[in-house]
Amino acid sequence: MTSYGYGHEMDAQPGAATGTPLVVLDHVNKHFGDLHVLNDINLTVDRGEVVIVIGPSGSGKSTLCRAINRLETIDEGTIAIDGVELPDEGKPLAQLRADVGMVFQSFNLFAHKTILENVTLGPIKVRGVPKAQARAEAMQLLERVGVANQADKLPAQLSGGQQQRVAIARSLAMKPKVMLFDEPTSALDPEMINEVLDVMTSLAKEGMTMIVVTHEMGFARKAANRVVFMADGLIQEEATPEEFFTNPRSERAKDFLSKILTH
Ligand SMILES: Nc1ncnc2c1ncn2[C@@H]1O[C@H](COP(=O)(O)OP(=O)(O)O)[C@@H](O)[C@H]1O
Ligand SMILES: [Mg+2]
Repeated sequence: MTSYGYGHEMDAQPGAATGTPLVVLDHVNKHFGDLHVLNDINLTVDRGEVVIVIGPSGSGKSTLCRAINRLETIDEGTIAIDGVELPDEGKPLAQLRADVGMVFQSFNLFAHKTILENVTLGPIKVRGVPKAQARAEAMQLLERVGVANQADKLPAQLSGGQQQRVAIARSLAMKPKVMLFDEPTSALDPEMINEVLDVMTSLAKEGMTMIVVTHEMGFARKAANRVVFMADGLIQEEATPEEFFTNPRSERAKDFLSKILTH
């Protein structure tokens, strides 16, 4: 199996988190007007750890992801990546953002650029990687996610599942320290969900630190170290996937699970 090349983390398995904090949210609060969308969030994600964020629509999951990437500002508290607090703006922010890969529900590829260009653009522009090297690394990543033969096509010529795998390759090309996934499979036709989850599962097995908003329980059971359940802007409970899905403690979680399990 080709590896993504994360050195010492390559042989890690889920459960093999190293115990050193990589993403630390400390008393994070955010409001949208009267809405307290992030309510005193404290969350530490260790290097190599895979954390699933689950919860009802509107509970603040996307805002949490966007705050970690500083696509949203926060009102109070701190967010640090690898010991560095998120900078406000400018080049330090661009650098730090490059350390935090993000994959959205909508694939967000550049529509008028080829698949290969989509993957090489960031490394060339932000990381200053020479073109030839960027292309070689991009082709390896596209190979790894199974779409190397589509490299010269435009995004619209690919299926949703293929586009989402390209979006993952594009994020990985920046060699991020952590990957955020915000409902990466919820816009996909059912038959394409697994091809994306398979890529994410192998990434998790290779030791990538991941924060994943998803309701895919199979993936959570296979790949996650921890489930964080959010509702109303609060982290309501945290548990292992097994504990959470078989024995949720809070009424909110029980209610939520009964709804997603019935269909
Ligand atoms: N830019 C915004 N302005 C105002 N309200 C927002 C904005 N973004 C999200 N919200 C609100 O914040 C709440 C949480 O949204 P979100 O983080 O997208 O939740 P989730 O991803 O869990 O569904 C929702 O009530 C949503 O309507
Ligand atoms: Mg959301």
